Amino acid sequence: MHLGMIGLGRMGGNMADRLRAAGHTVVGYDRDPNVSDVASLEELVAALPAPRNVWVMVPAGAPTQSTIDELGGLLEPGDLVIEGGNSHFHDDQRNAEQLATKDIHYVDTGVSGGVWGKTEGYGLMVGASEEDFERVLPIMDALRPEGPRKEGLVHAGRVGAGHFTKMVHNGIEYGLMQAYAEGYELMAAHEDLVTDPGAVLGAWRRGTVVRSWLLDLMVRALDQDPGLDDIQGYVEDSGEGRWTIDAAIDSAVPVPAIAASLFARFSSRQVDSPAMRMVAAMRKQFGGHATKPADGTGPAGS
Ligand SMILES: NC(=O)c1ccc[n+]([C@@H]2O[C@H](COP(=O)([O-])OP(=O)(O)OC[C@H]3O[C@@H](n4cnc5c(N)ncnc54)[C@H](OP(=O)(O)O)[C@@H]3O)[C@@H](O)[C@H]2O)c1
Repeated sequence: MHLGMIGLGRMGGNMADRLRAAGHTVVGYDRDPNVSDVASLEELVAALPAPRNVWVMVPAGAPTQSTIDELGGLLEPGDLVIEGGNSHFHDDQRNAEQLATKDIHYVDTGVSGGVWGKTEGYGLMVGASEEDFERVLPIMDALRPEGPRKEGLVHAGRVGAGHFTKMVHNGIEYGLMQAYAEGYELMAAHEDLVTDPGAVLGAWRRGTVVRSWLLDLMVRALDQDPGLDDIQGYVEDSGEGRWTIDAAIDSAVPVPAIAASLFARFSSRQVDSPAMRMVAAMRKQFGGHATKPADGTGPAGS
């Protein structure tokens, strides 16, 4: 198949390579002329045979929205846009409605696998009509991991379902990472008992209930930097965790593990938390418990 790939960064560049290796013809566009096959979106559209299929893989938010808006003015009836970045599912639904007025089709696809996807294949969650899903299946089959289709690719539902399920996937990822990390800290805090927490994690990779790729990556990180001395305990979030909590609140579904993991990331960015200063102040007020001076000197209170 012919495909236009917009955004040739860590994801789009590798995906274009994987698609070409599978025999597809990919025309890539990126604002960096050193990696781009064409100089503009106009040229990209002109280089593709109609009906066109175009994959958008630029940063989520404004860059994705402006790209889709521009495509809306360039593509023709019967063409199709696949949005593969981490968009909010409401944005997909709005964009699909907008493009449908010009008879331009829209498919939202949650993509998982990161930089490893080029060789391992990408986990794909697709939101589309039956007809559009069938249309893009050759592309999805080339991107997904080898093996049974149902173990790497899902037609999750109508437009929006691809990014809704990717959002939930990322929420789960937050909770899993937090639980692994807390277990690691707990073992490391008992070095008189557990001589090598990294070795325990390594042993957990086979035979145990908690074996997983995230566990493999944790062991890899410790191999590269035992004690993680080169990394600060500061963790960003890219939006999907917050959206997961929003969706849970909308539907009154309790998600305490995911919520706690998101809030742990917020805490990681505070050197000195106003809330915990207030807790210390209240303990002092009601019980006369000692507080630690703001300059960090002196003993902690009881
Ligand atoms: N990285 C992951 O593990 C991962 C996994 C799943 C999904 N995603 C999603 O996939 C999308 C791409 O992520 P990425 O990690 O590949 O990001 P990235 O490495 O920053 O690549 C994005 C590429 O798009 C280019 N670009 C930005 N705005 C553009 C525009 N308006 N037109 C054309 N090209 C533009 C960027 O150029 P500049 O470098 O000049 O800005 C860059 O080359 C994001 O929506 C992300 O959320 C990422």
